[in-house]
Amino acid sequence: MNPMSKTVRHRWWWTLWSLVAASAVGIGVFSISVYITGDPDRTPIPLDPDVAAHYVSILVHALPSSLALLIRPFQFVTRLRTRHPRLHRVAGRVSWCASRPERSSP
Ligand code: HEM
Repeated sequence: MNPMSKTVRHRWWWTLWSLVAASAVGIGVFSISVYITGDPDRTPIPLDPDVAAHYVSILVHALPSSLALLIRPFQFVTRLRTRHPRLHRVAGRVSWCASRPERSSP
């Protein structure tokens, strides 16, 4: 493969990564800012009074999942992985744990 096509490939990778990362980080920051307050009036989702602890179940889903959204895009950055493998492992474990409650909530 010639150097030009490698450059083009590299640019494409970063363009796509930036789009995915911007959307993941944007959603993560928005959700954390809404749910970190613990104020049920700020949730954009209508709360169902017939569902026990509906707000708490959304919190348990939204906060850790947002943390995973903030971490995961950076797990795909090769330079970070190769220069700081320990950071990759720790961040990977934190994000794995953060996505556990998400599997058992609505
Ligand atoms: C959402 C994305 C990712 C998550 C959550 C994640 C998570 C993790 C975790 C938890 C570990 C530690 C495993 C252990 O110690 O038993 C790890 C290690 C590793 N991951 Fe990832 N990873 C992700 C993406 C990637 C990608 C895209 C690559 C490469 C293409 C990669 C390559 C590696 C390598 C080479 C190790 C071993 C590092 C070492 O021990 O020095 N990971 N990852």
